[in-house]
This record gives sequence, structure tokens and C-alpha cells, in this order.
Amino acid sequence: MTMVIKIKMLYRALQRCMSSSAKAPFEITDMAAFMFTLQKSNSGSLNQVLQSILDSKLNLTHIESRPASLIDADKGFTFIVDVETPTSSSLENVCQKIKKVCGDVTLLGSLEVPWFPRRFNDIDGMQQLVRPLHSDHPGVNDPVYWARRQELGNIIRSCTLSSKIPIIQYTNEESQTWQTIYHALSPLYKKIACEEFLLNFKEMENKGLITENEVPQIANVNKYLMGKTGFQLKPISGMEKDRDFLNCLAFRVFPTTIHMRHHSQPYFSIDPDVAHEVIGHAPILADPEFAEFVQEIGLASLGATEEDIEKLMNLYFYSIEIGLIMNPAGDRRVYGARILSSVDEIHHALSIHPELRHFDPFQACNVKYHRKDLQSMYWFCEDFREAKILMERYASTLQRPFNATYDRAQKSIKVSHKVKSW
Ligand SMILES: [Fe+2]
Repeated sequence: MTMVIKIKMLYRALQRCMSSSAKAPFEITDMAAFMFTLQKSNSGSLNQVLQSILDSKLNLTHIESRPASLIDADKGFTFIVDVETPTSSSLENVCQKIKKVCGDVTLLGSLEVPWFPRRFNDIDGMQQLVRPLHSDHPGVNDPVYWARRQELGNIIRSCTLSSKIPIIQYTNEESQTWQTIYHALSPLYKKIACEEFLLNFKEMENKGLITENEVPQIANVNKYLMGKTGFQLKPISGMEKDRDFLNCLAFRVFPTTIHMRHHSQPYFSIDPDVAHEVIGHAPILADPEFAEFVQEIGLASLGATEEDIEKLMNLYFYSIEIGLIMNPAGDRRVYGARILSSVDEIHHALSIHPELRHFDPFQACNVKYHRKDLQSMYWFCEDFREAKILMERYASTLQRPFNATYDRAQKSIKVSHKVKSW
């Protein structure tokens, strides 16, 4: 039997299964999912599996497949099937039937994954860690600077996603640092920043959200950003855990600092500050395609293993923090926020010194990033559409027993399979 005929038969069986069970008279009370693997030599058995679901009167809502092994094609395909099921006995019944065909079946509802936020407000409960300054931070021996950071942290510690962000009264010293940064960076952008950034940066200037004299206010920038892409800056008093930070991105929430970098080092900041957040991140987060790319990384992080979180952080850093765009003519432009908020890193990233690589998530995920110094390697993409497609492809290979999507209207995460989390 040819492969085309086999596929047509399977398709008809799937249609029968989905259309028939959709009219099932029982009340849908729960969902479940199971996973099984069909060897390449046994691929025709999918028809039998679908028939057993039909016979058990389970409402099949989704089916997906992925290679059982990226190395050995003979391992066949692993299938994940979602059903809405009225009783545990019908689920048990169908699992028994699938076992006879495939040898084994895993009920995904029984698998546990690390906790992740399901609803928007869950984010407010995430822990914020206030860490002491690193030994090579320029403010490490400046008690006045540290006290000011703690003071600002206390002001926004109780800020939730739904509460009003306070207008911060920045000191003269902080305003002077901002002016130094602004005057050094803004003339450079025309030559080095990507066009999506330039468009929004200009608009933010025209609206008075970024001015030369005053430190920008997160409260005002937030309104602009939310109107553009729905991204929301969430002031935090300390660094969140990598997992929590990435999880926020799934909801289009971007954790944000509000303190200013130390006045002695305005051209490079070892850790994120308000200048980095507003001048580096905000304009590019206002671009719809970039916003989708960022959210894609966040969605991939929900319930991910510790190993995958580490890899996703590498991908986050190499793109959102230090990413470049390169057109076919070799014109290099910057979209990474860390470069855009650092005079030193702009000159370094666009010099002949660093190594440049085409963004490949499967490679970049394994290269451990470091925050402390200027980078020796940068990854570039052609545009954000390409970056998003590559990220989607990477995310689809994560060994996670469910897919997650964001319901923008409900501000909640929908999972394709029932999972428990700890
Ligand atoms: Fe950043």
C-alpha cells in the first residue's frame, strides 16, 4: 500500500473520530492526554488507535506527532492525543486498547512538571531576590548608592500588575547620569540601530516619554508599550530567578528595574538599570513581530526542565540582550537591549573584533552566556520573522509533555494536555 493511500485512510479515520465523538451525548467534565510511539514498521497502526478512541466515545480534540528520535528515523513517531473524557473507565479502556497496538502508552495527566503561572495574577506571587552588588560593580563600595537602590526597591516592592506604578523622584545625580547616557547614545542610533527600534524610539521621543533631561518614568512608558503590543513593564525590587523571569515573558510581562546605574560608569552597566530598560528594551518591545518572538521564548519556558531553562536563558541573552540583524549586503544593525544601552558595547559589537554567527537556537542554546564583560561572540538574524520561526522550531523539540498558548483575552495560559505541577 502506498504512503499516500495510508495517509488518506488515516485522515478519514481521524475525521470520523473527531466528527462522531463531537456529538457525544455525555457532558464533558475533564481533559486528558496520552502519548504513545509507533515504530516506523508499525505506522499503519495509527488507524487502529483512532478507531479505539472512536469506540470508547472519547472526544478527540487534538493530535500531534514528533519524531521519536532525532538521530534514528527507524524509531518512528511519538503521538500525543488529547481527549475530553467523561469517565476514568473509558480512558482506562482506551489505554488498554492502545497498549495492545503499541506495547506501551503514557497517560500525560500523571506527569509532573515544575510550577508555572497559569493566570496573570500568579506572576505577582513570584519571589524577588535582592542580591548584594557584585564585587566588580562600580557601586560596590558606595554605601549611598546601595542605600538608594534599597530605597527604590522598597517603593515598588508592593507594586502588582494591576496597581498604579508610582512616579519616581530621581535625584540630581541620577538625572545627570541619564543626561550623559542619552547624549552619548541617541546620536549613535541612526547609524547602528535596526529600523524597528528607530521607529519606536523616535515616537517615544515625540511623545515626551524619552527626553534628554529627565530620567524616563516606567509608569508613562508602560502606557505606550501596552497600547503598541500589550507588553507590560513590571517594576521589580530585585532579580527574579531565571525561570520566573522567562515565565513572565509568556504573559507579555517584562520584569524591569527602576534604579539608575552608578554615576562613575555611565557607558556600560554590569546589571540592568532604568536606562537599559527604557532606552534598550522598551522601543523594540513595541514592535509586533519582536514582541511575538520574545513571547515565544517565554511560552517555551513554562514547565520546562532545569536544563531547558538554562538553554532558553542563553537564547534570551544572545537575542534580546545582544542580538544583531544583518541584511544580505552585510549591513549590521543592533536590536539587543544591552548593546543599545551601552556606548562601550555598541563600539565593540560593531567592530571587527567579535565573532559573528547566524542565529541558530540549536547551537546558541549550548553556549553559556556571561553578563560581566563585553562579548566575544554575537548572533545575528535576518529579521524577527526568521528569528521567531527558528525559535518555534526549537521550542517544538523540547521534551515537555504539553504545548502552552497564551489566551490574550483571558490573560491566562492554556495547556494542550492536563499536567500536574509542583
Ligand atoms: Fe535586559
